[in-house]
Amino acid sequence: MLTTLEMKEVMFPEPFLWGAGGAGHQIEGDNVHSQFNQMERDGKPNFPVKSGKACNHWELYREDIEMMADMKLQVYRMSLEWSRIEPEQGRHDAAALARYLDMLERLNRRGIKVCLTLHHWSHPQWFEALGGFAKRENVSFFEKYLNYLVPKIKDYVHLWVVLNEFNNHGVNPAAFDLYRNLLLAHARGYRVVKQYSRAPVSSTHSLIHWQPQRSFDPMDRAAAKVLDWCQNEFFIHAIQTGELVLPYTDAESSAEVKGSIDYWAVNYYTRHMASARTKQLGAPRFPFNRVRMIDETMYHEEFYPDGLVQHLPRFTGYPIYICENGCCCDDDRVRIIYLARHLSALREAMNLGADVRGYIHWSVMDNYEWGSFKPRFGLVHVDFETFKRTLKPSAHFYREIIEQHGITTELRQKYLRPLSDITVYEA
Ligand code: BGC
Repeated sequence: MLTTLEMKEVMFPEPFLWGAGGAGHQIEGDNVHSQFNQMERDGKPNFPVKSGKACNHWELYREDIEMMADMKLQVYRMSLEWSRIEPEQGRHDAAALARYLDMLERLNRRGIKVCLTLHHWSHPQWFEALGGFAKRENVSFFEKYLNYLVPKIKDYVHLWVVLNEFNNHGVNPAAFDLYRNLLLAHARGYRVVKQYSRAPVSSTHSLIHWQPQRSFDPMDRAAAKVLDWCQNEFFIHAIQTGELVLPYTDAESSAEVKGSIDYWAVNYYTRHMASARTKQLGAPRFPFNRVRMIDETMYHEEFYPDGLVQHLPRFTGYPIYICENGCCCDDDRVRIIYLARHLSALREAMNLGADVRGYIHWSVMDNYEWGSFKPRFGLVHVDFETFKRTLKPSAHFYREIIEQHGITTELRQKYLRPLSDITVYEA
């Protein structure tokens, strides 16, 4: 059992890039031409609550950028909505692009570097109607869009993310064709960006630690290995060798995919359970009722910082940036502990050889969590009625971490000592 008081001072090397992130559809509001907006309007069961105005960032971005500067963020991960820039196939919205350019300019002027995601799951409804990325030939529409967009924004971007978590569509044969198409879209996007920009390019990978539900059971252990391959190693292997290998499908070789990153962009939240006794090989997590993060079950509700220590050293050959890591909780004290525990694990992974250059917390502010406003991931509280932003204690903690390059003894005393009676993690 670990308590917050057992944590040691955690210092990071310099330079190290500190930041926080967000994504267009989750914060902007009125993203009416995207496929997500369409699914929300159609009342699809995964979207019981509509994004609506979200955080109204589309109107309030100037104030939000000032707030981020005040939070001392060195980098902001954001995404541009393809559906705003090209709401109808071949028709570009100059006003939307101008607004994005204003955002990028302001961020740069305030000394905040931009980590830019070109596709954070959402895209125009017209692209979806054509079959989206499920059809390999549609990748050319994405390339065309990038060729239009990238030259216009290239000077503002410090790190590029072509696709967000292409591997987040389940681990099952039905998703595998999509994974291969998305990997190809990533590789093509990589080449487009490289034509115009010298800044490092990658796509974020959703890193999940798969834990055998019964650690003694050889079949559960095998299931965890298969899931780990499909979720994690498939991507690492494809980048290193160009070989796309997934179970129950013919392997494919792609010269385009091989070496198509300049850094590993890792998103990490927690672990998931593997069982050989379910069709999808997944299993419910251990009962975790000591601290409920929000008043409903959430797939991120367990802490498992050790996943960073165990898996980051697997990402070799390129530097690593953590592009997402965070938790949703109503009680912000939990976020403070989450931050401390994960930064401590991150440092440990670095001691074991992981070449980590930066950390981007998810997220800057509470936002629309793909169907709900309940899971609050933000360092900043958002009142979804008035859109008032309020920095949470965790935002102050994070600002001081950034200023001091880590969690000093003084910061431990100030922020962690008062929380020493809270146990959130069981080994
Ligand atoms: C996604 C975010 C999402 C977060 C929390 C990530 O997988 O990239 O858009 O908000 O998880 O669920």
